[in-house]
Amino acid sequence: MADTLTITDNRTGKQYEIPIEHGAIRAMDLRQIRTAADDFGLMTYDPAFQNTANCKSRITFIDGDKGVLLYRGYPIEQLAEHSTYLETAYLLLYGELPTAPQLQTWTKEIAQHTMLHENIKKLMEGFQYDAHPMSIFLSTVGALSTNYPDAKKIADEQARQVNIRRLIAKVPSIAAYAYRHSMGRPYIYPDNALSFPGNFLNMLFRMTEPVYQSNPVLERALDVLFILHADHEQNCSTAAMRGIGSSQADPYSSLAGAAAALYGPLHGGANEAVLRMLKEIGSISHVPDFITRVKRGEGRLMGFGHRVYKSYDPRARIIKQTADAVFEVTGRNPLLDIALELERIALEDDYFVSRKLYPNVDFYSGLIYQAMGFPVEMFPVLFAIPRTAGWLAQWDEMLRDADQKIARPRQVYIGSGPRDFVPVGQRK
Ligand SMILES: CC(C)(COP(=O)(O)OP(=O)(O)OC[C@H]1O[C@@H](n2cnc3c(N)ncnc32)[C@H](O)[C@@H]1OP(=O)(O)O)[C@@H](O)C(=O)NCCC(=O)NCCS
Repeated sequence: MADTLTITDNRTGKQYEIPIEHGAIRAMDLRQIRTAADDFGLMTYDPAFQNTANCKSRITFIDGDKGVLLYRGYPIEQLAEHSTYLETAYLLLYGELPTAPQLQTWTKEIAQHTMLHENIKKLMEGFQYDAHPMSIFLSTVGALSTNYPDAKKIADEQARQVNIRRLIAKVPSIAAYAYRHSMGRPYIYPDNALSFPGNFLNMLFRMTEPVYQSNPVLERALDVLFILHADHEQNCSTAAMRGIGSSQADPYSSLAGAAAALYGPLHGGANEAVLRMLKEIGSISHVPDFITRVKRGEGRLMGFGHRVYKSYDPRARIIKQTADAVFEVTGRNPLLDIALELERIALEDDYFVSRKLYPNVDFYSGLIYQAMGFPVEMFPVLFAIPRTAGWLAQWDEMLRDADQKIARPRQVYIGSGPRDFVPVGQRK
């Protein structure tokens, strides 16, 4: 017998059998539950989508209680140990790890698209000298659609594939230019002889030396951080990517919107907020007082808690190991001791334990980025580079999904009933 949910409507005494598929009922099946023929039918009320699946997906699996994260079935720990970001991006987009020739072609194709049009460079030069690099990033990604009108052909498989490659290849260049802009330094053109993270570091940090040599430990650490951030199923920015994309907007416009969602301090801005918080705490001796204030509701412990993970975020564990390797090269970030003490106290405190608040991916990533020489303003940009692969994989999956239409939530209207317009002179 098929799984069903039996609902009795006390208002009418009627019973309904609602099919259950993959642990979910279809919200539209509730619409048959009416009190009269002209009744709209029952809806669900779910602000912030806390219990609503908006798609069926084959890309990323999270078990929040067990702290499991899989990309296309592969555990994040194995990918972080053995894969590269570019290989993982291919996996997310195409569902399988590439064969050696596929990986070679993919790497070459990405390298072909790393350059930015000089018009885009000029556009970036026009930003205010102290513009936030994430604002520059998302504006520039949106502006790219003006260079690639073929991106509008979202039903054209070939156009879609080339624009996917362009976006993955160009986001590091945009990010690096945004950084150089904020530092008042000339932009460095991509060097396709380098690896994906090596080229990015070169565009960021090369000064007058003819050849920039990135430290292999830092290059690998950056690649691991990129793998960890590449996708995270239906989070706020991915929902934005799918939502905007559902109107058949081009991928540059959709991705600009997703990046805007990522900019917020509760999402991609969280590691920036962690660093500011650690600086504000200032010393280990202030940690207990800070925890007390958080428990009184005066602010949050940034980098803690997650909508989905109700145990240790598996990415946070890998990042902690990466931090050790990075600090051996760069020297220990003095804020690390404050972070470790915060984690120690919070993991013993009933307030955090009872609410299942554990360190998330952002708790330690900012410390690594800072030790590598990135200003905090670059943190959300560093998140957006690899998340581009996830956004595009999710966007592509959405476009291929026959169940999907333009995203358009319902509302429960609780405002005024009909009333007559009052001329301004008669208003009280
Ligand atoms: C990520 C986050 C937005 C998820 O929020 P959520 O699933 O909506 O959880 P809620 O806001 O409903 O929080 C549930 C409870 O835990 C508390 N809580 C959640 N995160 C907290 C934090 N970081 N510090 C202190 N308390 C926190 C809330 O106050 C609430 O307590 P209450 O039940 O007494 O009201 C939230 O945990 C947060 O703001 N974390 C800090 C920002 C951050 O690190 N974001 C990066 C995410 S990758």
